[in-house]
Amino acid sequence: MNIKISPSILGGSFSNIEKVIFDLNHSKAEYIHFDVMDGDFVPNLTFGPKFISDVRNCSDKVFDVHLMINKVEKYIDNYIEAGSDIISFHIEIEENISDIINKIKSKGIKCGLAIKPKTTWSEIKPYLNLIDQIIIMTVEPGFGGQSFMNNQVDKIRNISNYIKSNNLNIDIEIDGGINLETGKICIQAGANILVAGSFLFNQVDIISATNSFSDKFN
Ligand code: DX5
Ligand code: ZN
Repeated sequence: MNIKISPSILGGSFSNIEKVIFDLNHSKAEYIHFDVMDGDFVPNLTFGPKFISDVRNCSDKVFDVHLMINKVEKYIDNYIEAGSDIISFHIEIEENISDIINKIKSKGIKCGLAIKPKTTWSEIKPYLNLIDQIIIMTVEPGFGGQSFMNNQVDKIRNISNYIKSNNLNIDIEIDGGINLETGKICIQAGANILVAGSFLFNQVDIISATNSFSDKFN
C-alpha cells in the first residue's frame, strides 16, 4: 500500500522557508501541502500565488494546494499559473463547483474537493466523477496545531466504501491533527494521503521526522 505524506508548511516557520523546502525535498514526502487562507472563508490569512510560484523554483515535489478561500473563480488562474500540481477547494463555497473543477482539469492539473467537519459527505457525491482527490478535514479549517476530531472517522469510512464500491479512482487525503496514532486510524478507515503540519515541524530534524512518519505507514 502506498500511503503518501503531504507535509503542511503552515507548521514550519515562514522566516526559514528555504530550509523548510530543502528538508522536504530531501525527505520521503511525495507532496508539499500549501494552505491558502483568505481571512474570509476561514478566520486566518496565509499567503497567495506569488509565494507558491517562488517556492516552485526550489522544489520538484508534488504541490498540493489547499484553497481555503471564497473567491475561487476570481483567483483560480493565479494558482494554476503559480505551478500547482493539485488544487483543492472547498465544497462549501457559494460558486459553481463543476465549472471550477472543469477549469482546473482543462489545464491538466489534478483537482480536489475539500470538506469541512460539519458538512455531510453526501454533498460531495455529485462531483465524484469529476475529481481526483477529496480532502476530509479533521479539524475546523483555519489553523494548524488543533486536535483531531474523532467524529470524522465514520465520514472517511463512508467515502472510502462508496469510492471502492463504485470503482472510482480518487485519493482520500486527511487534513488536521494528524500524528502517528490518528494517521493510523485514518488509514484503517480508508485514507491514502496524510497531511501533517505541527506533528512533523515540532520535531528537531524534519527530514528524519518525515521519513520515519512515512516508514510507519509503508
Ligand atoms: C488547517 C490546515 C491544515 C493544517 C494542518 O486549516 O488545512 O493543513 O496545516 O496542521 P496540523 O497537522 O498541525 O493539524
Ligand atoms: Zn490543509
